[in-house]
Amino acid sequence: MPTVSECAILAHHQVAPGHLRLAVQCPKIARDARPGQFAMIQVSDSLYPFLRRPMSFERIFEDGVTFLYKVEGEGTRLLARLTPAQTVSVQGPLGNGWPLECGFKRHILVAGGIGVAPFPALAEKIKQVCGKMPEVVLGARSRDYLLCENDFRRMGCTVYVATDDGTAGKKASATQVLAELAPGPGTRLYACGPMAMMAATSLIAEQLGIDCQVSLEAQMACGTGACLGCVVEARRELEGEKMVRVCADGPVFNAATIDWDRHRVDYDR
Ligand SMILES: Cc1cc2nc3c(=O)[nH]c(=O)nc-3n(C[C@H](O)[C@H](O)[C@H](O)COP(=O)(O)OP(=O)(O)OC[C@H]3O[C@@H](n4cnc5c(N)ncnc54)[C@H](O)[C@@H]3O)c2cc1C
Ligand code: FES
Repeated sequence: MPTVSECAILAHHQVAPGHLRLAVQCPKIARDARPGQFAMIQVSDSLYPFLRRPMSFERIFEDGVTFLYKVEGEGTRLLARLTPAQTVSVQGPLGNGWPLECGFKRHILVAGGIGVAPFPALAEKIKQVCGKMPEVVLGARSRDYLLCENDFRRMGCTVYVATDDGTAGKKASATQVLAELAPGPGTRLYACGPMAMMAATSLIAEQLGIDCQVSLEAQMACGTGACLGCVVEARRELEGEKMVRVCADGPVFNAATIDWDRHRVDYDR
């Protein structure tokens, strides 16, 4: 059950230009949280901004969690000002989380930019529960914006890096690198990042006939399924079932259930 907790900030620091990691103590939320779920964070003490901001759990520990985030607009700018002397109100865990099935031979995590945020907790869980090491494809603008590479390597994951400018890893897109890994039968893909990147990953999965899970983003107001502010279109026969709520039905969806046509914009990165 989601709860609202006033959490002590344990650490809060920049990990890349415009990207921060926030560690909070919240035993109740940490106890119930699963990889791929998220929390709604109140970014300031005042009524402005009124809406909480959704953030995925990056790591889940016994008595706390970490969030990894990019400063986008006013809400995350205010969040970035909080210091370890303060507390922050966190509502969670929310959403469904990544499905965990150990039957797959390969688990490949495909991350674009800040889309890496929900993956460290997933990699840890796959290792812990399935005894398998996921492969991780990290896509970033440049070496400066590569996130979590060392964390994944420390866990024992095989990491493949793709950057737009070739300053680290291969000068390629994350999906080009993914295609080179030749995912075959028995592989499950997990993707998170820009919509176009997830659409491209889902197309690869569709062509190969393999399982693909995606974590979608949407602007959220309530985060609990009540306001319908976060709906996306699904491939469903029944008209009444076509709109799914990212917060309550997701944020993780089987890629085959999403109507990607509108998102398959010239993605070649
Ligand atoms: C499930 C989920 C998990 C996420 N996890 C992460 C993560 O781990 N790391 C990360 O960096 N980002 C994550 N995001 C994205 C993150 O929530 C946004 O970047 C953040 O909310 C931007 O807020 P902002 O105020 O800084 O930027 P802005 O772009 O200024 O904020 C968004 C703007 O839209 C408005 N708005 C927000 N929701 C609504 C709405 N429902 N209706 C109308 N207006 C609205 C806000 O008031 C604001 O003006 C996640 C998003 C989702 C949905
Ligand atoms: S944010 Fe309100 S229904 Fe999803």
